[in-house]
Amino acid sequence: MSRTKITTPSRRRFLAGAAATAGIAATTGFVPARFAIGQQAKLKLGLMLPYTGTFAGLGNNITDAFKLAIGESGGKLGGRDIEYVQLDDESDPAKATANANKLIVGEKVDFVIGTVHSGVALGMVKVAREEEAMLIIPNAGAGAATGEQCAATVFRTSFTNWQPAFPMGNVMLKDGHKKVVAMYWKYAAGLEFAGGFKDSFLAGGGAIVKEIQVDFPTVEFQAHLTEIASLKPDAVYVFFAGGGALKYVKDYAAAGLKDKIPLYGSGFLTDGVLAGQGPAAEGIKTTLHYADALDLPANMKFRAAFNKAANRNADVYAVQGYDTGQLLIKALAAVKGDAKARKDLIKAMEAVEIDSPRGKWTMSKAHNPIQDIYLRQVQGGKEVVLGVAHKALADPAKGCKMA
Ligand code: BEZ
Repeated sequence: MSRTKITTPSRRRFLAGAAATAGIAATTGFVPARFAIGQQAKLKLGLMLPYTGTFAGLGNNITDAFKLAIGESGGKLGGRDIEYVQLDDESDPAKATANANKLIVGEKVDFVIGTVHSGVALGMVKVAREEEAMLIIPNAGAGAATGEQCAATVFRTSFTNWQPAFPMGNVMLKDGHKKVVAMYWKYAAGLEFAGGFKDSFLAGGGAIVKEIQVDFPTVEFQAHLTEIASLKPDAVYVFFAGGGALKYVKDYAAAGLKDKIPLYGSGFLTDGVLAGQGPAAEGIKTTLHYADALDLPANMKFRAAFNKAANRNADVYAVQGYDTGQLLIKALAAVKGDAKARKDLIKAMEAVEIDSPRGKWTMSKAHNPIQDIYLRQVQGGKEVVLGVAHKALADPAKGCKMA
């Protein structure tokens, strides 16, 4: 395995990078053809993920678990050695297309794997569609990627933002909450989480008292929490993740709201940051397609292996990275490493059943997981699984017309 790291993206560097690709090929022995005198060339994988900023931890867990899966399979895909090219996308949508071009056109990777932020992912989808490049999204839930922008070469191993959000409306109504404040980062993911939640909550007779939108990646919540205190809703539903989620839950408790107004959210509110939130997170209910405590053999095995390899605990992001590795392992085995056998490769990816730490899932026609959504609650500092909030939930994939 060899690795090239790309850090500061800019158009100038992209052009220079494109020109330099031949140089990289020469020094690493990369042969762009399928076979070179009886030997297969390395499979080139472009990882475009956040390695700095509020989502850095998410990008690192996806990367480490992805490499763990491939390592467990002998460090090869379909019999071919791997070359990784890593690029920090900084969760910056403004740089997304230049960065994706850098990997797809400049580095000529066989697959791009990325990313976390929905806005960045949509830029990647645009380039992947233009270049007919293979793209696997290991987190970002932007609905359009497997909705109106769906494409034969674009797959997702995570969720749509609608999926974990939709079941929560009924959960909160059942808990007796009718008047709710929704609060979230104002970009595609936040808007879609609020939308999914409202789909079921409003249909069941709930009312939204106020929607509070915060610019991404702002973590200044104090004035909004004061407003929530004065609005006195029955409960609050939020979408924040990574560093933002860590701070929100602590600020909510510090503002004296924790024991007065119950806090609900997508599972990203506590996943991966629960230890840092400490007692402030106690009692929070969330819905997500994963929970640390899932009593499944695949989950136990994965969590032990990830902990050993990375020296930290796995979370939902790690699971999604691991499943991305599993998807590639199965797909490349089906085409015996021939990533250019596009039709067969895509067919294999569509037919896959992943025995995931989150439970078994299959790929929808729009290339998004059909999966169980769990209801979880923080009890005694641990994420306890209360049950399945929605069995085998598929995203409606509105507007997807697969060519
Ligand atoms: C998103 O931007 O789609 C996203 C980011 C973090 C967690 C979940 C979704």
